[in-house]
Amino acid sequence: MQIFKVGGVVRDRLLGIPVTDVDRVVVGATTEEMLAQGFRPVGADFPVFLHPKTGEEYALARTERKSGRGYGGFTFHASPDVTLEEDLIRRDLTINAMAEDDQQNLTDPYHGQRDLEARILRHVSPAFAEDPLRVLRVARFAARYASLGFTVAPETLELMRQLSESGELQALTAERSWKEISRALMEDQPQVFIQVLRDCGALKELMPEVDALFGVPQPEVHHPEIDTGLHTLSVLEQSALHKQPLTVRWACLLHDLGKGLTPEEEWPRHIAHEHTGLKLIKAVNERFKAPKDCQELALLVGKYHTHCHRALELKASTLLELLQSFDVYRRPQRFEEFIGACEMDARGRKGLEQRSYPQADYLRGAAQAAREVAVQPLLEKGFKGPELGEALKRERLKALKAYKDEASA
Ligand code: CTP
Repeated sequence: MQIFKVGGVVRDRLLGIPVTDVDRVVVGATTEEMLAQGFRPVGADFPVFLHPKTGEEYALARTERKSGRGYGGFTFHASPDVTLEEDLIRRDLTINAMAEDDQQNLTDPYHGQRDLEARILRHVSPAFAEDPLRVLRVARFAARYASLGFTVAPETLELMRQLSESGELQALTAERSWKEISRALMEDQPQVFIQVLRDCGALKELMPEVDALFGVPQPEVHHPEIDTGLHTLSVLEQSALHKQPLTVRWACLLHDLGKGLTPEEEWPRHIAHEHTGLKLIKAVNERFKAPKDCQELALLVGKYHTHCHRALELKASTLLELLQSFDVYRRPQRFEEFIGACEMDARGRKGLEQRSYPQADYLRGAAQAAREVAVQPLLEKGFKGPELGEALKRERLKALKAYKDEASA
């Protein structure tokens, strides 16, 4: 048997990028031989094994043929007569279809190295279409390598368009899609992921609510970029520049969905978009089974982002309601993420990226003032149960009034 490193490890070594996980392909071996050498099989369906000592992945060279819709619709052919070239041709991109042996001798039948140098993401063969997840993968690689100058080859974008139009993306499971989406959002240029999905028509299939924002105008005084879709891309871009966590990036992507529902005659104003957007945010959250913290923050940011922008004008009672809705007493981190997302929203506007955002510290101070109200004195006065809750609220309101007065003095 012959063993080669394949895929990301070869690509990233040639790019000079640190390599995290190493995949290997085994040519000329049978399952029985692998088991006899102590390799442990992974799952029942794939001819993939873990090394007995290192735990790294070794896959038997295989060909794949699609036999039906969705990811289940595959038949595999793995046998000792499958060549390295046959294994590589079924892979997604030329830059991912290179292999090397232990001496770093490169096998590159589909010109991955040439495309690496030309900074092009190009599919290897029509077999690309056998896994529609690859549409998301290409968009994710475009986001990851955008700063190196990579773009998607026109013929690959065309194939991605055909796959999107065929309805195949609907067959992807929430789990597989979320894995790609969440990884793409954590790249340095997550806005490129959304842009590429839009360019090939996949955004309309996966997140029509986000796609609908393109072409929707906003008032130029607040939004010099005008277009809501472009604004959303800028907010995402800011979220990466400011190294925000996944929860914040997800909330940034979904914060303005309500604007896609505004009747045209009301443009460019979007009255109550915070409220109308909630059902859309919920639908996207559930479609991809986003983790609970992402779902929660997206809904809260959708509902309250305008409150944050107007923080300095809010009455003490409204401030209190906001803090109560966030349960800032027990969930300080979530409130901090909310402020982060709103700040990205404020900066994700053309020419306003460097603006100051005093609302952030103002709200942090308000939360602190409310948190400092002590429970003990109220307990000593004999308050308990719901009355204690009411008394706490009154004291917090007092504290917020004092905080407001001091801030405006
Ligand atoms: N691959 C593919 N189609 C997929 C998934 C994977 O062709 N839907 C192939 C590619 O050759 C890829 C390799 O399997 O390079 C390993 O896949 P994976 O570990 O998911 O990705 P990497 O390319 O290693 O990239 P990353 O750095 O994102 O892990």
